[in-house]
Amino acid sequence: MKKQWWHEKVAYQIYPKSFKDTNGDGIGDLRGIISKLDYLKDLGIDIIWISPCYKSPFADQGYDISDYYNIDPVFGNMSDMEELIAEAKKRDMYILMDLVVNHCSDEHEWFQKALADPDGEHGKYFYIEECKDGKLPCNWRAYFGGSVWEQIPGTDKYYFHAFHKKQPDLNWENPVVREKIYEMMNWWLDKGLAGFRIDAIINIKKVLPFKDYPADREDGLCDIGYMLAEAEGVHEFLQEMAEKTFRPHQAFSVGEVFNAKEDELGAFIGDKGCFSSMFDFSQTICGHSLKGWYDSDDITPDEYKNCCFTSQRQAGKVGFLSNIIENHDESRGVSRYIPRGDQSEISKKLLATAYFMLKGLPFIYQGQEIGMENLKLDSIDCINDINTLDEYQVALDAGLSPEEAIKTVNRFSRDNARTPFQWSAEENAGFTTGKPWLFVNPNYTEINVNEQLGRKESVLNHYKKLIMLRKNKEYKDTIVYGEVVPVMADVQNLMAYYRMGEKQTLLVLANFQKEERTVTLEMPYKRVLLDNYGQEQWYDNITDKKNILLKEYQAVILEM
Ligand code: GLC
Ligand code: CA
Repeated sequence: MKKQWWHEKVAYQIYPKSFKDTNGDGIGDLRGIISKLDYLKDLGIDIIWISPCYKSPFADQGYDISDYYNIDPVFGNMSDMEELIAEAKKRDMYILMDLVVNHCSDEHEWFQKALADPDGEHGKYFYIEECKDGKLPCNWRAYFGGSVWEQIPGTDKYYFHAFHKKQPDLNWENPVVREKIYEMMNWWLDKGLAGFRIDAIINIKKVLPFKDYPADREDGLCDIGYMLAEAEGVHEFLQEMAEKTFRPHQAFSVGEVFNAKEDELGAFIGDKGCFSSMFDFSQTICGHSLKGWYDSDDITPDEYKNCCFTSQRQAGKVGFLSNIIENHDESRGVSRYIPRGDQSEISKKLLATAYFMLKGLPFIYQGQEIGMENLKLDSIDCINDINTLDEYQVALDAGLSPEEAIKTVNRFSRDNARTPFQWSAEENAGFTTGKPWLFVNPNYTEINVNEQLGRKESVLNHYKKLIMLRKNKEYKDTIVYGEVVPVMADVQNLMAYYRMGEKQTLLVLANFQKEERTVTLEMPYKRVLLDNYGQEQWYDNITDKKNILLKEYQAVILEM
């Protein structure tokens, strides 16, 4: 694997609406991000991915872009963006924007022109079809519910949307559309962006002509995944994109790739792959049911571990994954991967250690570094997210009571990760002086940055230690490039792996349970590099250098 400038970095995702508001309108903004660059620098962050801040009607919180060349006024303006890029540069930090080009907003000029003249030039920017014998072109279900087809008012024509009806899919088969997209990407890269996170990219290639798959719910529709599994040729588009945009700029790119087949990894992230990296979503999708959130399972520590190890083995020498425990589309990692009821600062620090030490580029999602948790709502009323509203309805339709359905929402809602960032115990968690656009998680009085900054053993300081270790000259090479070798993989609730580098071997041990246990090592350790209980207590625990007593949710990193 060729070494790249970004391999040894640490990345952070900002959801701009909920990060920091500076003008009291209750919505986070670019000036808010600028004001917190020093906080992020101090944490050890190098690369910042900002979820969409382009002009948008916000049907899907900015993932519906109506003008790729402008900043939405709720976030600020282009000179704020330029200032943000410049201020980041001053601090040796890199800005990534979100590239949302599977679809745009129905309020984008292109789509407005397509509506006005579906048979004209702009009609070909989208997928517009007629019914045949009174039947829609296919029976695929949109990600946010209902058919992927929406009628164009006053006509017998329908347009395709894989997500919401306000997110019409762009027709990637049309070379003019592709050129327009590359032009826009280069315009941003020329402004000094370091690269992009690439949204929903796998959806750009459709199986054509459109056709039905067997229905999988009572609505007579089918999951769009059947089509994605069959679609071929996405890599031709993506190689073209890389050739015309990323490569000439040496830009960093990280793909949101679900549904990748193992033999495709090289095409995505190998030395000649289209992207620098892609997210590992194997744990994210574990337990998910095609029927919907209500039917989805919790994930056990052993399932979590196996997902991580499988991805690590597959990516192996091929390329560099990006590792996460949460993002703006998921519930909070500490609520999902730590068994229910066991959430504590200790277990949160264990989870942090377990994923952060894997091979790849670690991403931290805003609030993860202080251990922000899921919601405990008892009604759907304050939910904003369209995906959640759909899944709530799916649960009700399946016969769940509102009380049961809301439990599903609390487990999986995207709003879990979208509530305002918890800066302090002040009103509105110090996020805004106005009324926040989305309610604040009531636990902000206990879980907030201010409280954790000065406290040595806080979750926040644990993340700092993990980042410092990753950047420590002595260990950097092993942590960035060392091979991941699972150990004691069949011991229940124990996640253990070596990182084998040229200079040394490290061992990560995570006791993923309440019960303490003694682990016998294959060789004695030399040094404890990190311990989620704090070094001092650790030394009380040891009997010798080969047998280690691990307490409740204890995680240690040892040099062997
Ligand atoms: C991606 C985004 C998600 C969005 C969807 C449609 O999955 O992460 O937030 O709703 O694409 O753009
Ligand atoms: Ca604001």
